[in-house]
Amino acid sequence: MTGIDDLPVRDELRGKSPYGAPQLDVPVQLNTNENPYPLPEPLVARIAERVAEAARGLNRYPDRDAVELRTELAAYLTRTGKHPVGVENVWAANGSNEVLQQLLQTFGGPGRTAIGFEPSYSMHALIARGTGTGWISGPRNEDFTIDVEAAVQAIAENAPDVVFITSPNNPTGTAVGAETVLALYEAAQAAKPSMVVVDEAYVEFSHRDSLLPLLEGRPHLVVSRTMSKAFGAAGLRLGYLAADPAVVDAVQLVRLPYHLSAVTQATALAALEHTDTLLGYVEQLKAERDRLVTELRALGCEVTDSDANFVQFGTFPDTHAAWQSILDRGVLVRDNGVPGWLRVTAGTPEENDAFLDAVRELMKEQER
Ligand SMILES: Cc1ncc(COP(=O)(O)O)c(C=O)c1O
Repeated sequence: MTGIDDLPVRDELRGKSPYGAPQLDVPVQLNTNENPYPLPEPLVARIAERVAEAARGLNRYPDRDAVELRTELAAYLTRTGKHPVGVENVWAANGSNEVLQQLLQTFGGPGRTAIGFEPSYSMHALIARGTGTGWISGPRNEDFTIDVEAAVQAIAENAPDVVFITSPNNPTGTAVGAETVLALYEAAQAAKPSMVVVDEAYVEFSHRDSLLPLLEGRPHLVVSRTMSKAFGAAGLRLGYLAADPAVVDAVQLVRLPYHLSAVTQATALAALEHTDTLLGYVEQLKAERDRLVTELRALGCEVTDSDANFVQFGTFPDTHAAWQSILDRGVLVRDNGVPGWLRVTAGTPEENDAFLDAVRELMKEQER
């Protein structure tokens, strides 16, 4: 049988495996940071209506620039981000992964490099690889916060073309303050100047405000967002960015024409009409996330402070065995490869109870 490596694939793809969390069929799935609440029925009905409307025009290509959708996303950011954002500041694509890919196609690429502070979202490195961008793994402190001094030094030494700051960070849950972004931005401008991408996929769950106001006067800063988490619409595939209008113009050099289908645009617009209801679920999830932190600590686990819809907990002498023990009790969590640590996504109260019961048993087992 022909395998990948028998094909004339690019050297940097040889021997590599695709991204993928295990998709196991277990009763409680808390491994991919999804929102556990299905979309409310009135929204499902509104999506059906708007998609029906769009379907009547499917013989035509969609709005290539997604102007109506970008206008509504800008209004959402302005309302929640404490910073005025216009349609000219916003770009949208199929999930924030595609936004990040377009950014690396535009500002990275062969002969260029990007840096991230790891452990962090593994797709940053994978998208770098896919776009031929060299990857530099920057440091973090032992408590998983960004070591600002070391990060500034790594930027000065490597002069990367793109700097990723994930806040709140995945898989650790830690968020950064404006001062950290400013220090890294200044270092990146002095070294190159380079683009700084703040990945705010989980920001709606944070105790801190969005870093959007930092866009003012910083044309090399980009904030990326998604409807996959807070809007409970991971299946929709809609991500977006806010930045200087020049960045929005630049990514259009690499986007495929008509990349956002009319069905996607219609669905996202329907979801945005129901923003308040969806953000209500976010409040419930934040309370559940805080409960997970408290209860895991009461069970004797170490827990990283979380600003996201998930919690990193540990530490286990055998991470895989701990993951398996929780799975054996019907609960799937994520082993992100951070030695000693696992990550659980905040689910419904019932799912979280099942998870906490499984950890209680695991901790008892470990005491024996
Ligand atoms: C930090 C971070 N950024 C971006 C994404 C990509 O999300 P999507 O492509 O669904 O918008 C994820 C998904 O888990 C993530 O954890």
